[in-house]
Amino acid sequence: MSESYHQTAIASLRDGNLFIKDAFIEGKWTAKDATFDVYEPSTSTVLGRVANCNREDIQKAVESAAKAQPTYFRNTTGKSRGALLRKWHDLIMASAEDIGTILSLENGKTFSEAKGEVVYAASFIAWFAEEATRSYGVTIPSSTPDTTLLTVREPVGVCGIITPWNFPAAMITRKVAPALAAGCSVVIKPPSETPYTCLALTKLAVEAGFTPELIQVCPTKDREAATELATNPLVKKISFTGSTGVGKMLARLASGTLKKVSLELGGNAPFIVFDDADLDLAVEGAMFCKFRCSGQTCVCANRIHVQRNAAEEFTSKLIEKVSALKMGPGLGLDDLSTQGPLVNKAAVKKVQEHVDDAVSKGAKVELGGSARQDSNGYFFQPTILSGVTKEMAVARDETFGPLAPIFKFDTEDDAVTLANDTEFGLAGYFFSRDVSRAMRVAHKLQVGMVGVNTGKISAAEAPFGGVKESGYGKEGSLYGLEEYQITKSITLGNLNAGL
Ligand code: SIN
Repeated sequence: MSESYHQTAIASLRDGNLFIKDAFIEGKWTAKDATFDVYEPSTSTVLGRVANCNREDIQKAVESAAKAQPTYFRNTTGKSRGALLRKWHDLIMASAEDIGTILSLENGKTFSEAKGEVVYAASFIAWFAEEATRSYGVTIPSSTPDTTLLTVREPVGVCGIITPWNFPAAMITRKVAPALAAGCSVVIKPPSETPYTCLALTKLAVEAGFTPELIQVCPTKDREAATELATNPLVKKISFTGSTGVGKMLARLASGTLKKVSLELGGNAPFIVFDDADLDLAVEGAMFCKFRCSGQTCVCANRIHVQRNAAEEFTSKLIEKVSALKMGPGLGLDDLSTQGPLVNKAAVKKVQEHVDDAVSKGAKVELGGSARQDSNGYFFQPTILSGVTKEMAVARDETFGPLAPIFKFDTEDDAVTLANDTEFGLAGYFFSRDVSRAMRVAHKLQVGMVGVNTGKISAAEAPFGGVKESGYGKEGSLYGLEEYQITKSITLGNLNAGL
């Protein structure tokens, strides 16, 4: 495959203007002499060159967003902001094929997964279009006579939004939609691996009628420049999804001006299969939450713990299903591929290191085990390892790739102890037919999200976020809006004075 792969795909877009390489600063598409290369993981060729913003660009974007925000909030209601969001949602849905194509090209995920992500991304906008009208305060019985105490929720102000490459659309909308619903403005630093999807979404937001200065997009590969978002005093909130290391650094920097911060960081999700589970259901759950996005999600099952007397049967059922996966370019194989490439060479190297480390310590390769040799793309074979133990790197470290390592355990207590033996706490899954066990284990897992008899836990209405070193704050759900608001109390005193 060559450059013609993406040239053909871009030429086939219904609206070629959605493929944008410029930054969006001060309400204008802004070309830059400085650019960075964006690669296409399916072929490892350059997909295009995008504006590389510097610190001054980000400062300008922040100042412009700060100017626009108070007018936006003053001149709109929850209902009118909801209507703008609804319009944005509809435009995205009408362009789902185009955005799915762009997303698949830059991220590598298969076209059907990419289009599915666009629908998932749009669902956050629809959700917050409705939440915008439900931004309730409370009245509080006052302890002082003649006094009424009430609260109102106000937008926090300018929000710095920093997102990852694994969900180029959904991680933008999960943050930007509640921010706009609350009455905030945003300055987005999209991932340098996948900036095009964000730029396309921004174009549609402006078409939907949002004041352009409310949404500023500063693509950059300059990490130092991007820290401006965490230090600039005009930025009042940082929302970041990405690695724990970068999250801690941003939190430290943001503390200089005491910004509100929410962090959705790394995971090391346990996936537990008890011997009373429906094993077919468990395999279905593992297929979804291990191999979605080729294993590159923060909520992917990283460690599969199976009760000893169910391990053989579960493993052979899993091998059968995983063998049927079709690896291929995101837009190739007549849309038959079910597993795209990984994002880059470093990602392939990491999966190989986890496999090699486990094998050197006694694990057995049941399926796959190496990178694909017959392609220039960043492909790694869907892999199953058995005989994995807690001494191996994969027990501690998030693989972020299509590797399913199977550990065995004996008792429920062992399973919970193994599951919690990590500094991370984003998601956890388990399968059991026993209702008492379902409640017991769900409470004992030290994670922010639990899937019981399912591998699917993500939805606009579900609170998304972790505990421990997986971060803090909730996205989506009825809690997502308040992450972009402050609660102000208003005390009305001496109500009977002068009567
Ligand atoms: C993530 O990997 O950070 C997001 C996954 C999801 O929304 O399901």
